[in-house]
Amino acid sequence: MNKEAISLLISGAHIIDPGQDIDQIGDLLIAEGKILRIGSTVTLSQRPERGEGKVENLDASGLVLCPGFVDLHCHLRQPGFEDKETIATGTKAAAIGGFAAVCCMANTEPPLDTPAAVDWVKQKASRDGAVAVFPIGCITKGRKGEELTDMAGLAEAGVIAFSDDGDPVASSLLMRRAMEHSRELGLPIIDHCEDKELSDNGIINEGEISAKLRLEGIPAAAEEVIVARDLILAKLTGAKLHIAHVSTKGSVELIRRAKEEGISVTAEVTPHHLTLTEERIVRETPDKSFDVNAKVNPPLRTRDDIEALIKGLKDGVIDAIATDHAPHTLADKNCGLERAAFGISGFETAFGCLMSLVHKGEISLTQLISKLTCEPAKVIGRNDELGTLKIGGPANITILDPDREWIVDSRNFASKGKNTPYDGYKFKGKVMATIANGRVVYIDDSLVIARSEVTKQSHV
Ligand code: DOR
Repeated sequence: MNKEAISLLISGAHIIDPGQDIDQIGDLLIAEGKILRIGSTVTLSQRPERGEGKVENLDASGLVLCPGFVDLHCHLRQPGFEDKETIATGTKAAAIGGFAAVCCMANTEPPLDTPAAVDWVKQKASRDGAVAVFPIGCITKGRKGEELTDMAGLAEAGVIAFSDDGDPVASSLLMRRAMEHSRELGLPIIDHCEDKELSDNGIINEGEISAKLRLEGIPAAAEEVIVARDLILAKLTGAKLHIAHVSTKGSVELIRRAKEEGISVTAEVTPHHLTLTEERIVRETPDKSFDVNAKVNPPLRTRDDIEALIKGLKDGVIDAIATDHAPHTLADKNCGLERAAFGISGFETAFGCLMSLVHKGEISLTQLISKLTCEPAKVIGRNDELGTLKIGGPANITILDPDREWIVDSRNFASKGKNTPYDGYKFKGKVMATIANGRVVYIDDSLVIARSEVTKQSHV
């Protein structure tokens, strides 16, 4: 991996930047880590430093070049749970997944509920991070749902949003106050919508499958009750509300109506909620045992929910796709279905599994890219620098091969979390390279960056 800011000419790519309506075959020139030029033919003589020296070239013909992906929702686990993941391993996995920037959740130990904790993550990320890391601060102290954090102090320390993700804020009054503060600070609340009394002890979606398998169910209502409550509170307070990991048709409808009413709400959906159903808890092997790696919160739902989620993505009710990358150790998972931790290690499979929707014609490649780039960047108000190929801006770039087939093997994950329900799946669509803030942080073995000497005689 090259940690230096680069000067690189990427040529012959299909360049797609939905935020700027760019869709063309062409070249892109990066100079000293910034995007200098995009055009049908860009030459190295267009570099500001035209003298002699080394230049790098990447032939990307047949590949797609787009802005670096932005993930609004991941768990990097550090500090406190370094056996599950670290900032170094998590951001390396993010880079392999095409993400140039990730927002990390606050359910660490200690949780990110003080400016000092946020500062620690920022410093650690600037030393160890392969990609940009934007910390999210807790809404309540210790994520206990009892007392608000010093939200202004956290904002000053640089959090990009507030969330107790992993847990809801059960008290409506506390959530109202949190929204009032967040509105003043101009930052969104990222809402883990779950009524714990309704979901209590649940393992999978409540429905026919949970009844048949005699497993405790988590009803759609456990999510929707809190989505509805918090939309009402967002209306009351004028706060920016972002609904995390939307999983049900009912939630999509609630968000749709709220948007129509002009409530300031955005929403995300995960790759697994878009591609897997509740049936996946049963292993697709002859012994038909349960697959703990399909245990996730909110749970995988039904085909009907998936259809509503895809429709919501297409018509803009759901703004972004976020991984909810939730790495766990083998011990946290392989302890029986009831006790197994919720969560899926998602960075390295996100693009491959989402491409199945594109190949089936459910969404277009441009729609998919927009949900991974400009749209999430807008949610956190960073669309000037992230999720865009803006000229003069930092080079955050992902290069994709939409047709490359590969087989998921969690043993090869850079993430410490091998907990994926996609192990052994064959995907068509692969991330080939990621450039984050002007640095090549991931490149597939089959791609070569050629170095050439530029002399005064070179016709470049
Ligand atoms: O499945 C999940 N895992 N859902 C969450 O909300 C939290 C996450 C985790 O932290 O493991």
